[in-house]
Amino acid sequence: MYKAALFVCSESDTFLKNYTMFAPNVVIATAGHPILPELRGSSYYQYNMPVHIGKNCWLGAGAVVLPGVTIGDNTVVGAGSIVTKDLPANVLAVGNPCRVVREISEHDREYYYKDRKIDYNSLKSKTPLQALNLTHK
Ligand SMILES: CC(C)(COP(=O)(O)OP(=O)(O)OC[C@H]1O[C@@H](n2cnc3c(N)ncnc32)[C@H](O)[C@@H]1OP(=O)(O)O)[C@@H](O)C(=O)NCCC(=O)NCCS
Repeated sequence: MYKAALFVCSESDTFLKNYTMFAPNVVIATAGHPILPELRGSSYYQYNMPVHIGKNCWLGAGAVVLPGVTIGDNTVVGAGSIVTKDLPANVLAVGNPCRVVREISEHDREYYYKDRKIDYNSLKSKTPLQALNLTHK
């Protein structure tokens, strides 16, 4: 079990759905400040934009999600990624700036990591795997 720190820098809403996992040191930043220095001393000193993160996502260690971003269901964000724009559902996305590398595919039903095969017979748990409708097709 990880002792994860999830930092939410927020004066706006952060919408999180079920089963989404956060690795240590993920930051969700819903607030920002103007680029123009003079404005940072004015009533424009801060803006806030909500962040939406779908269900069954996994955000790797140290990922940062910037204001206004929406991440679709099931999407995986690699460690250390800076998510500057929306990400669709069902993809693996990595890097700074975070880009989609590939869709989650049938390959991921066969292998849980690189060449490590899923042993479906060993999956006894009813939840949350059943809720995720995990089956070997
Ligand atoms: C996202 C992740 C699961 C991807 O694993 P994967 O499916 O095996 O992906 P691959 O290793 O095939 O990587 C595909 C490409 O993306 C790159 N990549 C993978 N993860 C990356 C990351 N976090 N940042 C930047 N690039 C990354 C790889 O170098 C590779 O690039 P290449 O095609 O030029 O060689 C893994 O890299 C990761 O970031 N895991 C997070 C682990 C973590 O945070 N654990 C904490 C406990 S919850």
